[in-house]
Order: sequence, then structure tokens, then C-alpha cells
Amino acid sequence: MPADVAHTLESTLIGLADGQADEVAARLRELGPDRCATALLGELSSRALLFPEPAGKTAVRATLRLGAETLEYEVVLGGGSAEVRPGPAPDALAGFTQDLVELLRAVYGAPGRHDATFAPRVADPERPVMDPADPVITQRAAAVTALHQLSGALSRPERSLNELAVRFESDKWGGHWYTPHYDRYFAPLRNSPVTLLEIGIGGYDAPDQGGASLRMWKHYFPRGTVHGLDIYEKHGIAEPRVLPLRGDQGDPEYLAKLAADIGPFDIVIDDGSHLNHHVLISFQALFPHVKPGGLYVIEDTQTAYWPGWGGDATDLNAPRTSMGMVKGLLDGLNHQERPAGENSDLSYTDRNISGVHVHHNLVVIEKAVNAEQGAPSWVPRDVDPESWYTGPARDE
Ligand SMILES: C[S@@+](CC[C@H](N)C(=O)[O-])C[C@H]1O[C@@H](n2cnc3c(N)ncnc32)[C@H](O)[C@@H]1O
Repeated sequence: MPADVAHTLESTLIGLADGQADEVAARLRELGPDRCATALLGELSSRALLFPEPAGKTAVRATLRLGAETLEYEVVLGGGSAEVRPGPAPDALAGFTQDLVELLRAVYGAPGRHDATFAPRVADPERPVMDPADPVITQRAAAVTALHQLSGALSRPERSLNELAVRFESDKWGGHWYTPHYDRYFAPLRNSPVTLLEIGIGGYDAPDQGGASLRMWKHYFPRGTVHGLDIYEKHGIAEPRVLPLRGDQGDPEYLAKLAADIGPFDIVIDDGSHLNHHVLISFQALFPHVKPGGLYVIEDTQTAYWPGWGGDATDLNAPRTSMGMVKGLLDGLNHQERPAGENSDLSYTDRNISGVHVHHNLVVIEKAVNAEQGAPSWVPRDVDPESWYTGPARDE
């Protein structure tokens, strides 16, 4: 697995963003101000595409300052794409100046109050404009829209997960009704620098197809690193913070190496083959590499009932099916309540699962040390249910 998959410039910048201003500036100089500025403008532009665009391709001039150094870029927006080009943009009607350290904070820092060095500017026409049909009016309007795209993205509005699912054409909303559940569990992690792995990129054997959900996660977690795993080669869907890997979710040795290279994970989502034995292998291999406080999600558990997929519609507790395995986790969750002697041989999942949430075809497993003590020993375990809590007998 290439080292750049485990550690990218973006992940370095995310780790740096909340540091002291002078230390951050020194580190940006070490990393190369131009590389960092290009990466940050690229990230900002990708977020800008979620805003209304100008009618045609429109250039914005970005002037970034790092101490006495000035860096100039042309950001071209419109037509559903964004491009960052080095050098000044002499023809751009709109532009902005910003401190590079502050741009880093605004893009990848924890949300909150930041410096306010962003200075937008729209050029005034060089001659009087008397005719409403003068093209300079349309050009200026396009420049203002393009500038709004960038300044809007800089303010980091939180789009709903449903909105992002629709924007990136993920079937996690519409085809399935998963996104409201995801939002409920993932919202507390939204502004954390999460490491997410989703098994199953989509698009099957086409190297540049798929990745809808990975792009959705990228924009849901603005400081996140999103890895996708697929049995097929998927290099064509790679973009900053979206990193495809090729491998088999049914191969525990491969998964152990993957986890050692890019884990531990805040979130793992299994949306791969949905074959029951693959779901079990992946869970056993990867759940130990989920961080405490993290989540492991299994999608499309309907296959637990489909014999052709290794499921079973008659033996509903069969431990070889995904739902049979999930049901087995439930008694482990309450292991403290079993007689003391039965707790001597606890499994990894008994000790490390703090919650199991089951929805239609979707299971969310919460990871945390499960050492909460059981009910006190003086509470009698053997009671007569006929007389317990019925109160003292009364004479009629
Ligand atoms: C349902 S699609 C994933 C869709 C994607 N997660 C999304 O929401 O946009 C399932 C993917 O799993 C991949 N897959 C199938 N078997 C696999 C395996 N053994 N290991 C890894 N990926 C596998 C397929 O190639 C396919 O691209």
C-alpha cells in the first residue's frame, strides 16, 4: 500500500490547522507555500461547487500572503468544475486577498472564531456603463457570483446529509432511507478530523465510475479523510481526501494490513458485496481497529435472509448470517448481568461494544469499553414473580 495513501498533504494540513499561528506559518514554509496554497484553494473550490455558479466559466484572482511572501492564483469556476492555476489572473473582474494561515484555519480548522483577513474585491468598470445590454454588466454579475461561491464555501455552511446525498447521487437516500439514521449517529463527529473507511465504492469494474457516497462523506466531514475499498481498481475516482484502495473484503490478511496502514478508524461502513461470510470476515478483521467512540455500520442486512447470499430465512439466529451475528452481540452487551462465573471468558466484542442500533436493513455498532458494572449483588436474582412488587396482602 503506497505511503501517500496513509499520509497525504491534506491530512498533514488538517493536523496542522489548529496550531499556533507562527508555528503554522513555519510549517507551511517547510511544506512549500505553493503546494499548500494550491491544495487549500482546491479544497475551497470543490466546496464552492455546492453553491450557485456563474453562467459561464469565470476567473477569480486569489492573492495569498505568508509573511512578506505573496502568492497569486487564478481560480476558474463554472460549468460544474473548478480549476486552480498558478500565477496572476490579469483579466479577472473579481478577486480576494487572504492570509495563508487563516485560509488554512478557515478550510480545515475547528469551527469557531478565526482571523478575518479575507478581503474581497470586484473591479469597477473602466468606463461609464449606460446601456443595460452592455456585456460588462453580465461579466461583473458572473464575477460576483464566482466570488460568492468561494466566500460562501469559506463560511463552511453545514449542508444536510440528505442534500449531499442528492447532490452526489448516492442511493443512501431515496433508494434507501439510510441518511437520516447516519446523520443521527455521525453528527457529533461532523467537525472532527475523522478517518472513515467505506467498503464498496460502486461502479463495479469501471475504474472511473462510482464513489458517490465517498464524495458525500467528504463534504459531510469537511476535515475528514475518506478511504474507499473495492475489489476492482478505482483510481479514476480519487480526489483530495477521497482515497480508493483495491482489495478483497473477504481476505482477513489483506484487511489486517489495510488497518495497520490507514487505521485506526473513526467510522467503518460495510457496503460491499453483502455476502454474509464477507460481512462477518470484515467485521471480525476491522472492528478491533475502530477507535473508542467510533462506529461500525453494516448496510443492506436484508441478505441475512437470502439463502443465495449465505443468509437463512428459517434459522433466524444462525450465527453465520449478518443478523444472526448482530443478535449474538446483544447478550455480550449485557454480559455484566450474567452470573459471575459466566463472565470469565469474555470476547473482544463483549468487552468493546457499548451500543447496537438496528434499523431496517442497517445496523450501527458503537465501540467503547463496555465495563459498566452490573446491578448490585444485593438485588435478589431469584424472586417469586407472583408476589414480587405486588405489595403486602390486604384484607378485603
Ligand atoms: C453497492 S456498491 C457500493 C456503493 C457505494 N458504497 C455507494 O454508496 O455509492 C458495492 C461495491 O462493492 C464492491 N465489492 C464487491 N465484492 C467486494 C469484495 N469482495 N471486496 C471489496 N469490494 C467488493 C463492488 O465492486 C461494488 O463496487
